[in-house]
Amino acid sequence: AAYDAGDHESYMHKEMLEQPVAAERVLRGRLDDRFGTAHLGGLNMDARDTRAIRRVKILGCGSAYYVGQMGAALVEELARIPADAEAASEFRYRDPVIEPDTLYVAVSQSGETIDTLLAVQEIRRKGGRVVGLVNVVGSAIARECDGGIYLHAGPEVAVASTKALTNMFLGFALLALQLGRVRDLSIADGKRLIAGLARIPEQIQEILDREAEIGEVAQQLADAESLFFVGRVRGYPVAREGAQKFKEISYRHAEAYQTSELKHGPLALVSEQVPTVAIVPDDELTDRNVGALHEIAARRGPLVVITHEGVDLGEVQCVRIDVPRNERELDPVLLVVPLQLLAYHAALRLGHDIDKPRNLAKSVTVE
Ligand code: AGP
Repeated sequence: AAYDAGDHESYMHKEMLEQPVAAERVLRGRLDDRFGTAHLGGLNMDARDTRAIRRVKILGCGSAYYVGQMGAALVEELARIPADAEAASEFRYRDPVIEPDTLYVAVSQSGETIDTLLAVQEIRRKGGRVVGLVNVVGSAIARECDGGIYLHAGPEVAVASTKALTNMFLGFALLALQLGRVRDLSIADGKRLIAGLARIPEQIQEILDREAEIGEVAQQLADAESLFFVGRVRGYPVAREGAQKFKEISYRHAEAYQTSELKHGPLALVSEQVPTVAIVPDDELTDRNVGALHEIAARRGPLVVITHEGVDLGEVQCVRIDVPRNERELDPVLLVVPLQLLAYHAALRLGHDIDKPRNLAKSVTVE
């Protein structure tokens, strides 16, 4: 049957709700509980190749770049290989040094984004090894790479990407796990993460089931001309993606910052008119994050806090949205789901064309 929005008012809505099923598909057949690892045959890399990697460089554009940042954190945490993400649109213009012992990873839903494709070609021309995390099978980027992981999110039509991004994160988790288990990650940690990954689809569903409640919160945010999205370390790319989604479809000015950077400048803008959406997971930084919430509240900035059940936010005035707990390394994929719903319901309230936001195309295939 043709892919259409069915009973949903938009493709974005349908695609958000498909995330649990899509997540199952990217994980299916790839989790090995016995050895606490992932099986990614399509990478075309054996243990010797994997051990030779000294660095991982991830390239993507827009939201794929932000998920790339989440992916870099996963690679560093699980495989202990230095990793970072860069906007593919900038990469080739700075005449990058291509190293033979760096694993390059191109990430793209469409597989047709010109900036990402040209970055891949530049790396290959200079002899580098590139693997792809791509959704569309047989797309240009998939064909240009030395190997890769298909994301199996299914077709995505809405300009604002949702299920492809969730699956990119899970793809990175699988990659980091496989790299980690060939290197220093213990079997116990591998099994802990495998169990965590297996819980993700139903935990995404738990968040989606609270759409009505989260939609209410979005009503308040929709009226603000300008908003901050803040997070630290694992939470920062989550904040960037939250701001991206919000500006794409609600046309509000949404700016992401590291929570720790607020006091170095942007706090000057916080006021009753400028709400902040703060990512405050239960982790090593919770207390510091809560400290920042107090500073925002003291300037009368309205606060929406995406956090975990049981996190003590003190006396701070805020609307809180709790997401289910998983292994800390995997938190971003759950923290991001309420942000999709906030953007979606804000745009709906403002009466915008959700699937075709002004000035944007689903894939940017010309420079
Ligand atoms: C996502 O909501 C955006 N529309 C956009 O940033 C997108 O992620 C980017 O253009 C990359 O697209 P790709 O994944 O198809 O390469």
